Amino acid sequence: MSSTELIEKLNGGLGWELRAAALYSHYSAYVKGIHRLHLKPFFDEEATESHTHAEMVRSAIVKLGGTAVTDRDPTEIVHTTDYKVMLEESLKTEQKAAEGYEQVLALIKDDEEMYDSIEQIYFQELRSVEEVTQLL
Ligand SMILES: [Fe+2]
Repeated sequence: MSSTELIEKLNGGLGWELRAAALYSHYSAYVKGIHRLHLKPFFDEEATESHTHAEMVRSAIVKLGGTAVTDRDPTEIVHTTDYKVMLEESLKTEQKAAEGYEQVLALIKDDEEMYDSIEQIYFQELRSVEEVTQLL
C-alpha cells in the first residue's frame, strides 16, 4: 500500500471522528428525561474523545505529508430524542470506527510511533463499543 492510500484511509478515519464529535454533541443536547442524568455526561465524554482521536489522526496525516480533510463524513446523523436510538446510532458509529482503525493498523506495522497512537485509538473504540453495548 502506498502512502497515498494510507493517507486516504486515515482521512476516512478523521472524517468519521469529526462526524462522531458532531453526533455526540447533538445527542448530548437532545437527550431528555431521567436518562439525561447519565447520558449527557457520557455523550459529552465521547464527543471530547472523538476530538482527541481526530487530533491524533490528523497528526499522523501531517507526518505522512498528506492533506487532512476538514469536512466530516457525510453519513447522516439521525436526529432523535429517543435515547435508545441515540445509543444504537452510537454503537454503529463506534463499531465502524473500530473496523477502520483495525484496517489501518495492518498497514502501519513498520512505523512504531504511528502504530502505538492508532492502536491506542483502536482500543478506546473497542471500549466504547463494549460500554454502549452494556447500556443498550
Ligand atoms: Fe474515536
